[in-house]
Amino acid sequence: MAQLWGGRFTKETDQMVYQFNASLSFDKRLYKHDIQGSIAHVTMLCRQGILSELEKTQIIDGLKGILLDIENGSLQFTEEYEDIHSFVESHLIDRIGDAGKKLHTGRSRNDQVALDMKLYIRDEIKQIDDIIKNLLSTLLKIMEEHTGTYMPGFTHMQKAQPTTLSHHMGAYFEMFKRDRSRLADIYRRMNYCPLGSGALAGTTYPLDRTLTAELLEFDGPTLNSMDSVSDRDYLIELLSALSTIMMHLSRFSEEIIAWNSDEYRFVEIDDAFSTGSSIMPQKKNPDIAELVRGKTGRVYGSLISMLTTMKGIPLAYNKDMQEDKEVTFDALDQVKICVVLFEQMLGTMKFRLDRMKDSATNGFTNATDAADYLVLKGVPFRDAHGIIGSLVLHCIDQKKSIEDLTIEELKQFSDVFEQDVYEAISLKTCVEKRLTIGAPGIEAMKQVISLHHEYLKEEFSGM
Ligand code: ARG
Repeated sequence: MAQLWGGRFTKETDQMVYQFNASLSFDKRLYKHDIQGSIAHVTMLCRQGILSELEKTQIIDGLKGILLDIENGSLQFTEEYEDIHSFVESHLIDRIGDAGKKLHTGRSRNDQVALDMKLYIRDEIKQIDDIIKNLLSTLLKIMEEHTGTYMPGFTHMQKAQPTTLSHHMGAYFEMFKRDRSRLADIYRRMNYCPLGSGALAGTTYPLDRTLTAELLEFDGPTLNSMDSVSDRDYLIELLSALSTIMMHLSRFSEEIIAWNSDEYRFVEIDDAFSTGSSIMPQKKNPDIAELVRGKTGRVYGSLISMLTTMKGIPLAYNKDMQEDKEVTFDALDQVKICVVLFEQMLGTMKFRLDRMKDSATNGFTNATDAADYLVLKGVPFRDAHGIIGSLVLHCIDQKKSIEDLTIEELKQFSDVFEQDVYEAISLKTCVEKRLTIGAPGIEAMKQVISLHHEYLKEEFSGM
């Protein structure tokens, strides 16, 4: 065991306690950020006259060497180190001797770990933002190609009114756009540097916390040292945003699973993104979509876990907080792989335009438009609703659609029906007349699509 403490102890730590307490097995992934934070810290210590130029150079060179060796595989994370902070500091001391012992001046592992996590999360947010942006580009491509692809729109999973594939995809575009803006909000709110808060009450060294914050591209230092070392709000916000991303992916997955079924056959998932059955030779299953839907529960679990961990923790740092890492890392990993695979599945999926159109043509998706037709001819809407309701009942009985009835048959329900009704309730008219902002009519869709193109040209807004 290579611990950073031990002076006040008379016994070795129990082996199981050591294992239980140690975090290197999972916080090793913070190595780059831990070193980045240390380099900024010693740069600041030197500018403040707390370390000499020589000590600073020795420490920074030592840290860079450790980074290099971790990355080229020659330095392994072995079990005798408690956590990533002890690992880096012990190796630094082994490599450069006494100067290494000065690295931790004016710092505690409490503000150090708070910093490392923030640096790590900032990078992860940028990565997730990038892959969601890629998903949005794929969605936009489908939207552009399918402004004229008619399909039924549903409420209560019952066919309601006709829409287009472009419009349907556009709904998801909005959801993922909001997801990006949530990530950007979190980034902005968390972007204050905790380093220099010490264990909880700051330090007596003349640290320049503003300089440290600048060196690490934060918007400034945090303003209360107790809060700095015990704030995990941003992780809760992040896990909530990640849960929302998964919820969106899960809804989308659910639709794709249904659409890929023999009953709908609206889409066909590419062979590369489907799997077979060990017993039923005919099967081609939508496992990717199902796994994305399934993993949503796991990411929600991380959020609940983090909220629960934090709820009873008195100020300031307590070891409970070490539990923030595994759940957060797991949620990040799951979200990243899910977004990436989902985007690829979507990009390679075939849409069955004929099936979608047939489905939109059946099931009285034009009933609202038939009622609106009567309204245009002067019938009050409530009466028109009643007339079309009886008409639909009649059609169900006759196994016909509204447009299959002759004008004489229609006139039995209302004498305002004229020949122009057929045009008024055709699938094309039903969709193309919907031109309010956000509606599926092609002209309305084109406006929205061009806004989306502008939006995708913007850089990540969190910085
Ligand atoms: N591994 C610890 C964590 O993740 C680092 C901070 C340790 N601080 C302490 N006072 N033991 O929270």
